Amino acid sequence: MALVTSKEMFQKAYDGGYAIGAFNVNNMEIIQGITEAAKEVSAPLILQVSAGARKYANHTYLVKLVEAALIETDLPICLHLDHGDSFELCKSCIDGGFTSVMIDGSHHSFEDNIELTKKVVDYAHERGVVVEGELGRLAGIEDDVNVSEEDASYTRPSEVEEFVTRTGVDSLAIAIGTSHGAYKFKPGQKPQLRFDILKEVEERLPNFPIVLHGASSVIPEFVDMINANGGNMPDAIGIPEEMLREAAKSAVCKINIDSDLRLAMTGSIRKYMAENPAHFDPRQYLTPARAAIKELVKNKLINVLGCDGKA
Ligand code: G3H
Ligand code: 13P
Ligand code: ZN
Repeated sequence: MALVTSKEMFQKAYDGGYAIGAFNVNNMEIIQGITEAAKEVSAPLILQVSAGARKYANHTYLVKLVEAALIETDLPICLHLDHGDSFELCKSCIDGGFTSVMIDGSHHSFEDNIELTKKVVDYAHERGVVVEGELGRLAGIEDDVNVSEEDASYTRPSEVEEFVTRTGVDSLAIAIGTSHGAYKFKPGQKPQLRFDILKEVEERLPNFPIVLHGASSVIPEFVDMINANGGNMPDAIGIPEEMLREAAKSAVCKINIDSDLRLAMTGSIRKYMAENPAHFDPRQYLTPARAAIKELVKNKLINVLGCDGKA
């Protein structure tokens, strides 16, 4: 099967009350762990590549690794640019085989966001590629840029129809209280999402796919594994899985997960190295790391996103 866009996946997810997992990929083991899990439970997938991933692993290596996963799994897989910040970056990914791009103009003014997003949409649609836009601004860390809580802002529902109509985007990322990274809430703070904003957006945009970024749950098991083996991240807190399950039943069709993969991989490697201090063959510690990613993703697909059996 060739790479697909997210169009059909989103329509089925919207109608079926579940969400597609969009997992960030940076190397072979991460791609293998995610795609092996999806194959086992027969789930469609979005594999997403950030500018940082492209810088780390190289565009061609990542595309070829994803193509290998297509051959191995025969699943519907969409290859997506995560947080594209310029027309040139989006163009390079569209020209280079991606089937979906995000243009993240959320830090621009409303008018500038529309202008930039529309330029990407026009280029992408002529080439059969779909586009995700963003309105509202998440807190947290993206590509080493730290967006403080003061600079973050919820999506204004009153703006969504105009944004979607004028840009022609295929999906819209909104800010309802999720954030990037492993420190989403302060210690003692009760995790909360603005489901009222999501509901209003849903009413204003009938049959339109919504995207949630910053949706890692920061699984305590992996944080504990890191802390028990020389790490120090005691205050890491994520989005409770039951909130994501609730969101997946609504117009939210794509849920982005990266930090949980990082924590699973790092927790597993730290544990392995602590137990086997004399080992130095990367295959030895990357084997359990890949297995940890696979288990994590399988659980997300079945118990959080509800997209198992939907490939
Ligand atoms: O939202 C950001 C993603 O977690 C990607 O992170 O830019 O460090 O690759 P990155
Ligand atoms: P997390 O940091 O919560 O995994 O969010 C990932 C993300 O939104 C990628 O775009
Ligand atoms: Zn994101």
